[in-house]
Amino acid sequence: MQALVLAGGQGTRLRPLTLDVPKPVIPLAGRPFLSFMLDWLEDHGVDRVVLSCGFLSDGVRRVLGSRHGALHVSYVEEDEPLGTAGPVRLAADLGLIEDRLLVLNGDLLTEIDLSAQLARHEQTGARATLALIAVDDTSSYGVVPTCGDGRVEAFLEKSPGPAPTNRVNAGCYVLERDVIDAIPAGRAVSFEREVFPALVGHGLYGFPVEGYWKDIGTPERYMEATRDLLAGRIGSRLPERDGSGSLVPGCCVVEGASIGPRSVLGAGCRVATGARVEGSVLHAEVTVGRRSVVQDSVLAAGVRVGDHALVRPGALVGTGARIRPGVVVEAGARVAPGAVV
Ligand code: GDD
Ligand code: MG
Repeated sequence: MQALVLAGGQGTRLRPLTLDVPKPVIPLAGRPFLSFMLDWLEDHGVDRVVLSCGFLSDGVRRVLGSRHGALHVSYVEEDEPLGTAGPVRLAADLGLIEDRLLVLNGDLLTEIDLSAQLARHEQTGARATLALIAVDDTSSYGVVPTCGDGRVEAFLEKSPGPAPTNRVNAGCYVLERDVIDAIPAGRAVSFEREVFPALVGHGLYGFPVEGYWKDIGTPERYMEATRDLLAGRIGSRLPERDGSGSLVPGCCVVEGASIGPRSVLGAGCRVATGARVEGSVLHAEVTVGRRSVVQDSVLAAGVRVGDHALVRPGALVGTGARIRPGVVVEAGARVAPGAVV
């Protein structure tokens, strides 16, 4: 089975983390984010993956390479953003797509049952089958009402007003080749606003799924996903967490510091004596000075926090930024890569 992962968005809602690191490889619980998705695809028998990259694509290629376990990984790059459907047509025109295809939004952390979705797709003889997940607040998703037999009645992308159902597009599609060939070539095309609305009544089916599912594309959801992985609310191939529910690799120096609860340190971090890192994510090579406190925040690679500083909850500090000694970084602050505060 072949899959194409849409990984070319700019990740604007995760800035400044995504200003210099592409969203697909932002570290999540210490691993490049997309590696969780590749594990999941591999578990469902996918053996070939095309990563559709645009923004900062070299970074994705460098981190993920051409193999992931049993998966063969190839890349297709756009010069201009082609939306969500345009990249699938481009990959097909380049001869990279064989036949039936799984298409995934690249910012999902999930363990929904892809194998069952594929089986249903075959049973119904659908041209396209969309995984549908129930959510509490539908406003930032595509709402998809269906009939009793699974046929899609409408595709309502982020439309205002009361939703007819709480089932939304989970960003996981099975497509027959004729659907791909009908996507207009050479311009940006949206599955959600163009392709799926036109397919309603022409072989478009929904398949209700259950289980862990999260779009990690906002800071809040990125932190939720981190906590869920640490707590084991979603299965993963992560190492054991320590007594405080944290992940601290052996190559970090944290003597005399307090790490946890529920924190993640990347490789080569150094947290000095008397410092506290609580509910936070430090990417690689971050240093935290003596008696400093970091609360519920994300510090990107190479950030240096001086002594006696305080980073209040919800801050996102970009790559290589420096927090001078004694400084208080306010709650929810955004610090640009390389900035000195
Ligand atoms: N290659 C490429 N080119 N990929 C793109 C482009 C592009 O121009 N634009 C977006 N993508 C990728 C993003 O990287 C992401 O993985 C995926 O397409 C979806 O884009 P988002 O920007 O994350 O969309 P969303 O989260 O607002 O909404 C989508 O996902 C929801 C589920 O999380 C829609 O598909 C909704 O219908 C859906 O409910
Ligand atoms: Mg998204």
